[in-house]
Amino acid sequence: MAENNWSVDNSKLVYGVNKNDLHFLDITKDGELCLLMGEYFITFNEIIQRIKTMNGESPSYASSFTLRVPQLVTYQIKKLRAAFQHAMDELDYKGRFIGIYPVKVNQRKDCVTAVIRSDSEYGLEAGTKAELLLIKKVIESEKQRPIICNGAKDPEYLELISQCMNEGYNIAISIESVHETQLIVQRFKPKETNLILRIKPYLSVEGHWSHSTGRDSKFGLSVHDLLDVVDLLKETGFISSVQTILAHAGSQITEVESFERFGRLLTKIYAELREMGLTNLENIDFGGGLAIDYTSSQPSDFMYDYARFLVSGVQEQLTAMSDAYPPPNIMIESGRGVTALFSMVIVEALEVRSIFPNPAEGYTSHETRDDEKRTKETIRKASSLSELKEIWNRFHKQYGGLTLSGMGSIFDYEMITGILESVVRERLVELNLSSYDIDGLVRDFWRPEHIVIGNFSVFNSIADHVLVKQHFPVIPVQDLHVKPETTVRLVDITCDSDGEIAQFYRPQADRLWFTKDHRLLTTTDGRMGDGIPVGKLENVKGSCFVLALAGAYQDAIEMDHNLLGDLPDVELVLQDHGEWALSWVTGAESIEDLLKDVGYADIDVDEDPYMSD
Ligand SMILES: Cc1ncc(COP(=O)(O)O)c(C=O)c1O
Repeated sequence: MAENNWSVDNSKLVYGVNKNDLHFLDITKDGELCLLMGEYFITFNEIIQRIKTMNGESPSYASSFTLRVPQLVTYQIKKLRAAFQHAMDELDYKGRFIGIYPVKVNQRKDCVTAVIRSDSEYGLEAGTKAELLLIKKVIESEKQRPIICNGAKDPEYLELISQCMNEGYNIAISIESVHETQLIVQRFKPKETNLILRIKPYLSVEGHWSHSTGRDSKFGLSVHDLLDVVDLLKETGFISSVQTILAHAGSQITEVESFERFGRLLTKIYAELREMGLTNLENIDFGGGLAIDYTSSQPSDFMYDYARFLVSGVQEQLTAMSDAYPPPNIMIESGRGVTALFSMVIVEALEVRSIFPNPAEGYTSHETRDDEKRTKETIRKASSLSELKEIWNRFHKQYGGLTLSGMGSIFDYEMITGILESVVRERLVELNLSSYDIDGLVRDFWRPEHIVIGNFSVFNSIADHVLVKQHFPVIPVQDLHVKPETTVRLVDITCDSDGEIAQFYRPQADRLWFTKDHRLLTTTDGRMGDGIPVGKLENVKGSCFVLALAGAYQDAIEMDHNLLGDLPDVELVLQDHGEWALSWVTGAESIEDLLKDVGYADIDVDEDPYMSD
């Protein structure tokens, strides 16, 4: 039942669910987080219960797990093709769309096979020998699918490529240097070889990995190399083997308009290269870069906008060149955009710790109690932010002693700070400030005072949170029908203070909303803040949080910090008529295996991985 006029719709806005890239999450009227698959709802609590019943006694059971939903890969693959088809139809573009999945983004078999099953023409990209071997296996009965071989090419990699070509695989080899060109022309025959020139586009874009383009890029041919490569290919009779140019502008490019410039730039290069004799050039591969909306704050048609900007950039450039060149096929190597939805980490809350003592415990000194009363009154009378600051600074000067009890002691200081912080927050809300993010002091008042210990490792499950401060949506599985009581930090069980998630995106709303203890839930402009809202704090212990959109890159870069390895993998498939099936793909990585990895092959362990419940 809703409290304080709070409704499930408010929670949907706060947590960003049921829209954009979190369209597959929803909230039931009882406040339970659920998967929304087509028209069917599956609550996370049902999934958690079913897994427990199926595997609770298994030695590799851990109460937290990673949920894989291959149908969400299919959804993205179809959406991407449809977005390009739509843009091409609207602009009457005559080239084709060619989808390529770069397996480095998630090499798991369940993910790669989901891509393949979803589109009979989709191709795959390898960056190493190992990835090529993986691709070879996955498409052994569909050798016509395009394979792009990127990455540094040593003789062994080229040997494997050659073997695959002999076995009938449809491979295009990218060239990234003069040296690679020399190796390729020595080994292959022009007529049997399909080449790609990977170039560094000089384009400045907004995004996390924008340094993977232009001057500082580690990948691709700079223009002077490109000209040398073209000369070498001409001399050796390979010029007609080049069918594609490739450039990757970076990952998670949120400034979607830049794809129009990117389209124009590469089309210009495409035309110039054709003029230089590369007359078989027919594809432009735009690499990856399609962003995922981790904060549910982008326009809802973001994927279509991306396709539209890219196609229109190509089209405009062709028109500007008097349509003298055939419209190139548009190849897309989206990785993040295809796989992010595929994985969710379900984290069990083992316990909740409080930073401040429970007020019911009482002070160790009467003076502190009197001080609390006095300071509360002055706070409640404060009429401006600067007055509040003054009161706050004055109050702090009196405390900070090193004794455990008595006036000025650490215990009393903790207690009174907790109580007065809450009074200040209440007063800040009453003062109705135009911005609640004015400076560090105000921001400090919103910081959570409860720490939830989650049975997981940030370093293993969502390493990018630590590596590049990437934001992943975090949502409690229950009590979403009530106004959030407070906010919490979700910390992991590693011994590293970076192993925690506190950041939470406060969405833009017309009105500012607050938790029951007056912490900010929405903002006027949408911004990051500290503290994950929870409905009822008393129910958090033993319940779970969902870390969503973890399907891209996180499996590939996981770390075994503190020897906490992979969580169990559980696959969910929606069947006909709303039936759904779970399968336990693998249990948690065993302590024995983790120890073996660091050289201790001789330690026998029969205990459960992670913490037993
Ligand atoms: C050549 C190439 N293609 C595709 C991708 C995938 O990019 P994204 O995940 O942004 O789609 C990358 C990522 O690094 C890349 O280097």
